[in-house]
Amino acid sequence: MGSFIPSSILLLFLFFPIVMPLPLSTNSRWIVDEGGQRVKLACVNWVSHLEPVLAEGLSKQSMDTIAKRIVSTGFNCVRLTWPLFLITNDSLASLTVRQSFQRFGLLESIVGIQANNPSIIDVSLIKAYQTVVSSLGENNVMVILDNHISNPGWCCSNFDGNGFFGDKYFNPDLWITGLTRMATLFNGVTNVVGMSLRNELRGPKQNVDDWYKYMQKGAEAVHSANPDVLVILSGLSYDRDLSFIRNRPVKLTFSGKLVFEAHWYGFSDGQAWVTGNPNQVCGRVARDMVRTSGYLVDQGYPLFISEFGIDERGTNVNDNRYLNCFLSVAAELDLDWALWTLVGSYYLREGVIGLNEYYGIMDYNWCEIRNSSFLQRISALQPPFRGPGLSEAKPHKVIFHPLTGLCITRKSFLDPLRLGPCADSEAWSYTPQKTLVVKGTYFCLQADESGTSAKLSIFCTDSNSRWEMISDSKMHLSAKLGNGKSICLDVASDNTIITNSCKCISKDNRCDPSSQWFKLVDSTRSSTSGERSLLQYLPGKGLIPNLLVGSI
Ligand SMILES: *[C@@H]1O[C@H](CO)[C@@H](O)[C@H](O)[C@H]1NC(C)=O
Ligand SMILES: *[C@@H]1O[C@H](CO)[C@@H](O)[C@H](O)[C@H]1NC(C)=O
Repeated sequence: MGSFIPSSILLLFLFFPIVMPLPLSTNSRWIVDEGGQRVKLACVNWVSHLEPVLAEGLSKQSMDTIAKRIVSTGFNCVRLTWPLFLITNDSLASLTVRQSFQRFGLLESIVGIQANNPSIIDVSLIKAYQTVVSSLGENNVMVILDNHISNPGWCCSNFDGNGFFGDKYFNPDLWITGLTRMATLFNGVTNVVGMSLRNELRGPKQNVDDWYKYMQKGAEAVHSANPDVLVILSGLSYDRDLSFIRNRPVKLTFSGKLVFEAHWYGFSDGQAWVTGNPNQVCGRVARDMVRTSGYLVDQGYPLFISEFGIDERGTNVNDNRYLNCFLSVAAELDLDWALWTLVGSYYLREGVIGLNEYYGIMDYNWCEIRNSSFLQRISALQPPFRGPGLSEAKPHKVIFHPLTGLCITRKSFLDPLRLGPCADSEAWSYTPQKTLVVKGTYFCLQADESGTSAKLSIFCTDSNSRWEMISDSKMHLSAKLGNGKSICLDVASDNTIITNSCKCISKDNRCDPSSQWFKLVDSTRSSTSGERSLLQYLPGKGLIPNLLVGSI
């Protein structure tokens, strides 16, 4: 095969958004498209499993507007939830949207849906679900169908009858029937790229043997009904535990489609983030995460963190501290993920009409973004850092700052180092001598007096340019000054990179170390501002072409 591409095809790429060649499959720990190139799932959860059984928000905005908002905020995918009975109970599936809302007296929502999405008000619930999927497809948004619960309603508790195979509402045979029907219904719908077989298994009946028995059966059923979709398996204990896979792999008759999913919230560890020292908690919780699910990527399976999120008002200290730690792990492992949630408010949740969702990226009216600085922070994780087919640049490190979602960048030779978008990140290498060198140059990161800017220097052998990753979180980058004093990388209020005394290393639970938290992340992304490295500044020599630096 030649590499010649007719110019008419090139023109097509210029004028139309580039659509990933679907379906997706797996290549070791990566999810890849038909061309073998990595596709990173950067999804948002869209709830469609509560009592009215309609994707939330359609009384406030048209589904097309919502889909376009998902795209403009940088997500490429939706994890769209559904209750099992939507597909196994014909009298539920065939209710019209109007009838479904009338059952709960949600008259205001009916008026809103009629105004914003008139085409679905008198169609069946299952048809409305399909319409939402097509609308996402028209906007090139991938969809993962997530069987969230059996009986429509808010999820989850240990005793809600939906937790594990054999529970009141969780008949395994009916579940297989439902998965088969759903997989069949969406066979040939190309933007449906995966199915989450069941959300948050839990409760007194949960056990590993039944997990294998039924999850393998469910996976086979889905695959034979629809061989295109990724088959996504969640663990036990609210999707917190996949440790058992380590010694007992899942046995399937097919390959290249298996993905695992896990959930990770601040409240997954109770109030640990508030009551403990954040370095110590992050160290412990991140180790725990690797033991229970993160290890899977080293075993060659993709891991999809299908739920994480925080109260976006920024007032929940437990959530805030957790998020810094979460973002650092998600960046380091470059995981696929789905944020909880898109939803700004619910039609009806847990008996409350119009409940405000503070974990949602949309505001109450589904008009504006609830908190754009939150979105800005997670946007660093939307594009992949690395993976098959993405080697635009040689492997290097970026220095990621989870508190801001920014990376260490350098505008020009004379400007101080500062935080900027990770797309403009400087490319670093972390040498065996523990220096942080700007790739392709002799410049290394160097600490000066406490409270002053960190500098680039060409004298890289002293202790003030040897950076150790210290504290339990391993996220303090620390060097020693000439007087033996340890100092840590930090950020000033104008976002320049400075050094300061290392703070909150242990014990103290009242202080927050996160301004000093940095993560070295492997990347092959090319920097959008790569041109500047054609010239380098050398003290006493001025600006010289980069290639000559080594020979001076
Ligand atoms: C099926 O759905 C209808 C409408 O929601 C409900 O009244 C009925 O109880 C459901 N049947 C089963 C077996 O769950
Ligand atoms: C957004 O989040 C930030 C940081 O968590 C917080 O300080 C700010 O008040 C939040 N803004 C809104 C509008 O809730």
